[in-house]
Amino acid sequence: MKINFKITVFLLLFMVSAIGCEKKEEVEEQVNVETLTLKSAFSDDFFIGSAVNDNHINGKDTLALQLIGKEFNTLTPENIMKWMNIHPEENTFNYDMSDQYVALGEKNNMHIVGHTLVWHSQLAPYINTISDSATMADNLKSHINTIVGKYKGRIHSWDVVNEALNEDGTLRESIFLKVMGNDYINYAFQLAALADPAAELNYNDYNLWKPEKRAGVVQLVKDLQAKGTKIDGVGMQAHWSLEGPSIEDIENSILAYSDLGVKVMFTELDVTVLPNPWDLNGAAVEQNYDKFEGDPTMNPYPNTLPDSIQNKLAKRYEDIFNLFLKHKDKISRVTFWGVHDGQSWLNDWPIKGRTNHPLLFDRKLNPKKAYQQIIGLKKQN
Ligand code: G3I
Repeated sequence: MKINFKITVFLLLFMVSAIGCEKKEEVEEQVNVETLTLKSAFSDDFFIGSAVNDNHINGKDTLALQLIGKEFNTLTPENIMKWMNIHPEENTFNYDMSDQYVALGEKNNMHIVGHTLVWHSQLAPYINTISDSATMADNLKSHINTIVGKYKGRIHSWDVVNEALNEDGTLRESIFLKVMGNDYINYAFQLAALADPAAELNYNDYNLWKPEKRAGVVQLVKDLQAKGTKIDGVGMQAHWSLEGPSIEDIENSILAYSDLGVKVMFTELDVTVLPNPWDLNGAAVEQNYDKFEGDPTMNPYPNTLPDSIQNKLAKRYEDIFNLFLKHKDKISRVTFWGVHDGQSWLNDWPIKGRTNHPLLFDRKLNPKKAYQQIIGLKKQN
């Protein structure tokens, strides 16, 4: 009897202390989980960041700046380093905003991206007047040497060439291709490597999940590699929607690019929740969609996002991040194209003046369900 009593007391004490321990662990876990941010949650996986606009860079948008410092560990300039802004005339370089941009990244100890050196869009007008190959080569040299050289060791990663491919994987007829031929891409990468040998050099484009365009990128990277030219990564822009592209198509591209021995990055991630004009009427993307401006059927969520769509967005982001985590050994960076919904370019494209909800933070900077969902993937682990 005595022995039984002792055993019962011992067992009771053991159970109480075991429950106590379990509770303590649970509480500790809750504390850690509560303090997770995007950058702490994915710190072992990949850099995670955002594109930043003028008001972040000049310090006026203080609330967004707090959020940027708390959530992200990499930055990309949305517009200020594009050719028309940083090098508007042949002998004029505007470093006011880019100096502030780099200082912002350094202050927060971030991985700093330069976007973008060679792109057919947002070009300085003088480039479009050039018609001979040698002059174009001189101008590429001046642009890349000067800018990459100025930020040598401070900008860690460059989108060297942006959107050089058509949807079928052939080379786009940009001013650079027309005047210099195919070799402008190789030349741009070589110049960037000379100007800062330690910087990461990437090719960046949209719709890189498409099999035909994927084949074009694979060829482009192989051509550079065959010439001994340094290329470190492929940036998949990732302007996606609730419906597509499929996870399988994205995965096939991750595998195809990493098989080449380069890093894969998701450089401009957002997920539109609005109808696209070409989905509705089969129109070509190049068409002008002004006729849809003010049409309420094209702008169905002007105030808040209904729960049903909020949930779809969260599920879509969860599926996307599950894929990213599956291939974290191949993916070095994930960057959202904007800090919060109110600042997304998708409010004005392809139709001006709509209310889109494509990011993880809403217009009041509150985290959305999609944010909780992807952080949740790390809590499970
Ligand atoms: O700065 C002027 C302002 O002075 C003027 O009052 C206003 C009137 O419309 O326009 C302002 O310029 C706009 C600029 O963004 C800055 O807000 C341009 O009109 C507008 O066309 C420009 O759009 C940018 C777009 O690139 C240009 O092609 C978007 O913000 C930017 O998010 C977008 O980013 C690109 C990436 O660089 C490459 N990949 C695709 C991505 C989305 O298009």
